[in-house]
Amino acid sequence: MFETLQAAPPDAILGLITEHKNDPRPQKIDLGVGVFRTAEGETPVLDVVKQAEQRIIDTQDSKAYIGTAGDPQFNASMQALTFGDSVDADRVATIQAPGGSGSLRVAASLILRARPNATVWVSDPTWGNHVPLLGGAGLTLEPYPYYDTDAHVLRLDAMLESLAALPRGDLVLLHACCHNPSGMDPSEDEWRAIADVIVERELVPFVDMAYQGFAHSLNDDAFIVRHLAERVPEMLVCNSCSKNFGLYRDRVGSLSFLAADKTARDIVYSQVNSIVRTIYSVPPDHGAVVVATILNDKELKAAWRVELAEMRGRLREMRVLLNDALKEKAPDHDFSHLVRARGMFCFLGITQDQVNRLKKDYGVYMVGSSRINTAGITAHNVEYLAESIAATL
Ligand code: LMR
Repeated sequence: MFETLQAAPPDAILGLITEHKNDPRPQKIDLGVGVFRTAEGETPVLDVVKQAEQRIIDTQDSKAYIGTAGDPQFNASMQALTFGDSVDADRVATIQAPGGSGSLRVAASLILRARPNATVWVSDPTWGNHVPLLGGAGLTLEPYPYYDTDAHVLRLDAMLESLAALPRGDLVLLHACCHNPSGMDPSEDEWRAIADVIVERELVPFVDMAYQGFAHSLNDDAFIVRHLAERVPEMLVCNSCSKNFGLYRDRVGSLSFLAADKTARDIVYSQVNSIVRTIYSVPPDHGAVVVATILNDKELKAAWRVELAEMRGRLREMRVLLNDALKEKAPDHDFSHLVRARGMFCFLGITQDQVNRLKKDYGVYMVGSSRINTAGITAHNVEYLAESIAATL
């Protein structure tokens, strides 16, 4: 049977982890996969996570199954974090999922059950795994214009025009904040204009919020979710706790859906739970209990907000640091979009050939599109990084 198979290519993002690890050069730099790093280049467990884990170890008395929807306390906390008070509680439900990817996968099956012929419109460009993940589940995907990779600005007019021409009932996948890969988000006014078209065309928002708290604040970053929740009858929201709680490998996320009324909400809830049972049966528990513990303890929650603000601040500082270094090393080139972007990512704005040369000649690793994870920059490596980039321009 397996003779029919050929080796699959390495994943464009995750493949870089191994490539970088196997590179013996001490000066190598990893700007690939989206994990936070400290000024020392580490991805430590957050202090609040350690504290919550200790409490769980001391008090947890069972590892029995918790059910397809996961931990009710986690779900309620994630719903509050996502929607604030923007939504009628009877119309919304949240389930725990194995990471943001797991929640996207469940959402894909839900869309296929509810509206199998709908197209999901994704930003051009979008996260490298959106199309394989959602397309692999069976959804039809098409791009809408989002970002001008030459001018490094949003293509807002083209986006609005394109959305205004979509068939009613199609879904639009939006990145709530820290757009991956560009790091360029619409302003609140621009989001309002996008929401106007969504409402007018009766499109279904499908929001991926993987970086809440990494752009401005927990509340500001949820602006479009809450704005839409007040205006549309139905929507889907996928959350990830990988980044803002640093729980990458524990696989913690949630899927929320808004329905027209309580009866519809309850029907969707039953469908979602039956979908979960057919994919992974029940979600992993540990990370979700950690999140629930933090979000339901005043002190831990306050400490988490501080750690989150530190991560956000470091990402901002590193953007400025690299832009300043590039001004010096490559004065004829404009990299100012680096500081206009938010969150972990932005494009450097170089060719695939230059990306390859940076890897081969300098041990600098980034995704082929020239997306960089700014958390990989430190005060120690920024000069070498800017010199290497300048040498390939
Ligand atoms: C990324 O875009 O680097 C992260 O979201 C990690 C991943 O799974 O691709």
